Amino acid sequence: MINKMTSSWGLAFLALASIQPATAQSVNAGQQFYQKVCAKCHEAGIGPVITGRGLPAITYVSIARNGNRAMPAFRVTDIDDATLQQLADYLASTPVKNP
Ligand code: HEC
Repeated sequence: MINKMTSSWGLAFLALASIQPATAQSVNAGQQFYQKVCAKCHEAGIGPVITGRGLPAITYVSIARNGNRAMPAFRVTDIDDATLQQLADYLASTPVKNP
């Protein structure tokens, strides 16, 4: 009985702990990854500008996973699928500068 109670509290705690980061911040993990990693090249003149391009999310996902000539490939151990999808959705939603 005690064990059962302890483990359900444990589960409730885990569930809360995993929900928190997404709701507590307005910047999601995908955007953070862009700012920490992609921007090092893409906002520094090493790679082309990739925000505001009107590119579909799938383009970001496939180029990030596969690489593209001078662009390194990112494996699942670098960025998981859910975070990469967030990143791609974020980049795809950046306003196009010259419509
Ligand atoms: C080490 C530097 C570097 C990093 C880090 C990097 N890129 Fe790139 N990326 C490049 C370069 C250089 C190119 C141009 C490749 C070429 O055409 O030879 C490129 C091209 C691209 C393109 C195609 C743009 C176009 O106009 O053709 C996309 C999309 C892209 N990168 C997305 C990303 C994303 C998303 C990330 C982060 C997950 C990222 N890149 C991280 C260097 C980088």
